[in-house]
Amino acid sequence: MEDNDEVFCRTNIALIGFMGAGKTTVGKFLSYKTKMSHIDSDEEVEKISKMPIPMIFQKYGDRHLRLLEQDFCSGILPTLTNTVISTGGGIILNQKNIEMLRLYSKVFYIKSSPQKLYSRLKDDISRPLLQTYDKMDAIKTLLADREPLYEICAHHVINTGELEVFKIAEIILSII
Ligand code: S3P
Repeated sequence: MEDNDEVFCRTNIALIGFMGAGKTTVGKFLSYKTKMSHIDSDEEVEKISKMPIPMIFQKYGDRHLRLLEQDFCSGILPTLTNTVISTGGGIILNQKNIEMLRLYSKVFYIKSSPQKLYSRLKDDISRPLLQTYDKMDAIKTLLADREPLYEICAHHVINTGELEVFKIAEIILSII
């Protein structure tokens, strides 16, 4: 942990992890339990661009989404206090975002196995990156690329296994 981390951050909780890991569900539950505010980076990106994420992909491509995520991290994140932040799964693809998340929040990696993610995402049509013939292969490939970044960004890794949402929230609350 760097010195700066100690100075800022401790009033916010950021949840990072792969699509379908449960960041939004856990984030909302944590917010309900703690009375902290809740914000979802995907929703903020949609507000900034005034269009749903699949349309951002379709019209402008994934690089545009990454720029909007960067706007969220540099513009909105530093203004937050006492807030649980659920993030889009690709937010860690930008080194600056990693730094900002670590600076302004305590970061938890909500870690799931490819099998568990697949069972959650197999019928999902809302994530453009996973609309491929072999969804399990897409999950494994993307996760292998991103795993080191989730680990670098996280102050704490929560292996969710078969844990229920309330248990994941309980573990997070026992750490902060
Ligand atoms: C993405 C994750 C999605 C959303 C977009 C891209 C990714 O958010 O930002 O479809 O690159 O992992 P969730 O992790 O909330 O599904």
